Amino acid sequence: MKIKNICCIGAGYVGGPTMAVIAQKNPDITVTVVDVNAQRIQDWNDPDLNKLPIYEPGLDTVVAEARGRNLFFSTDVENAIDTAEMIFISVNTPTKTYGAGKGMAADLKYVELCARQIARVATSDKIVVEKSTLPVKTAEAIQSILDNTGNGVNFQILSNPEFLAEGTAMRDLAMPDRVLIGGNQTKEGKEAINALVAIYSSWVAKENILTTNLWSSELSKLTANAFLAQRISSINSLSALCEATGANVSEVAKAIGMDSRIGPKFLQASVGFGGSCFQKDILNLVYISKSLGLTEVADYWHQVIIMNNYQRERFVKNMIKTMYNTVSGKTIAFLGWAFKKDTNDTRESAAIYVADMLIEEQATIKVYDPKVTERQMLGDLDYLNTRSQKENARYLQTNDDPYKALEGAHAVAVLTEWDEFKSYNWQAMYDAMQKPAFVFDGRNILDKQELETIGFIYTAIGS
Ligand code: UDX
Ligand code: UDX
Repeated sequence: MKIKNICCIGAGYVGGPTMAVIAQKNPDITVTVVDVNAQRIQDWNDPDLNKLPIYEPGLDTVVAEARGRNLFFSTDVENAIDTAEMIFISVNTPTKTYGAGKGMAADLKYVELCARQIARVATSDKIVVEKSTLPVKTAEAIQSILDNTGNGVNFQILSNPEFLAEGTAMRDLAMPDRVLIGGNQTKEGKEAINALVAIYSSWVAKENILTTNLWSSELSKLTANAFLAQRISSINSLSALCEATGANVSEVAKAIGMDSRIGPKFLQASVGFGGSCFQKDILNLVYISKSLGLTEVADYWHQVIIMNNYQRERFVKNMIKTMYNTVSGKTIAFLGWAFKKDTNDTRESAAIYVADMLIEEQATIKVYDPKVTERQMLGDLDYLNTRSQKENARYLQTNDDPYKALEGAHAVAVLTEWDEFKSYNWQAMYDAMQKPAFVFDGRNILDKQELETIGFIYTAIGS
């Protein structure tokens, strides 16, 4: 089966860049990305490529090449569904905030709504692709909804999880370690798998396209994220041990990472991992394991989250202790708010939790982040519901000049590893701050020796 029209429901961090690359590499396929959020679609269509709704290095070039040629962004969801032979579901699947599984399970409300809409609208056979990260066995539910509410057309479900990391999404999409496609092991299922393999084959080598059954594919995505997050929690747990013993976590990470069985990646100790995926997917894994009666499995993975929370709290406690046991009335400048560099995404960013804890201690926070707006930061804090919006706005201020953000501050906390922080004029920063001037490097990116020579009291993670 040759696909000519693709529809993707959800123009977010995953749907937008992924479809842009599929369209770029397959000029003969029309790709329409739809979203219920009209403002988001308008932003994707903005002639000024600086106004795309998400920031991702290199995305603007790909959008410029394909948009209007075979890549379209639209709010006309129904028309796009009916025209397409293949429909990607790429809506968000946040952790449930209500009812059974609250705080643990994935909220599949939007995915189900998509399935029902596809079933209602489709007048020809469709391949429905799960792009969103979903609990294992979700395809069964989607198939049941499609078959029971559809118009008698045939639906094949595929699972095609996305492994891109934000900030490097365009490179990850152009040169993926692997593409994973799960499907039914029937004749029709295999045809559907092949149709999707053909699309990726436009630029990905065949040996890097892995095909599996549906459940292996769904579970592999959760597992990959759990393993990655586990490495960070492991090294972060050791950072505490390093601080207590005089070992240096960077040296330990290097020493163990040179063992080819362990490998060097994802061993960077930090104030804690953030992002929309790690916490949500592990909680989901824990919930599934518990539901299946696998308590020890659930507890094992839950510890990864407990360690991450501990790391954020430890960072704050250490700040307070170092600053003579009180930060009340003091100003702490934050460098960075995004959950990692090269993205404007702030979901689950450590900065949010660190700010919240410091505000509880009556500190004033002044933030500089090159890509995150003040509105976003205040929204993130308000979402925690710790205090009123008015109070949050009183305690959290922003500045789009880093030097101004640091003026008069008692301390600087580095929360995101943006490259530009390394090349600042730290002497000028020091001169403008209160004394003694503290630096709490939550990302271990600054030069300890340089800062100490200037006069800063410098604290890193794990040394
Ligand atoms: C994705 C995946 O889908 C998620 O499962 C994975 O774990 C992380 O990455 P992401 O692209 O980051 O989510 O989410 P987001 O940026 O919030 O985009 C989702 C989009 O879907 C939003 O623009 C939202 O408006 C849209 N949406 C949601 C719909 O169009 N219809 C809906 O019914 C619900
Ligand atoms: C992750 C997975 O990497 C990706 O494959 C999946 O598709 C989505 O989830 P993402 O969350 O975008 O991607 O970014 P990632 O680079 O994995 O970083 C996640 C968090 O871990 C960030 O807060 C980052 O700063 C932190 N991190 C990462 C560390 O603290 N130390 C490390 O060594 C690596």
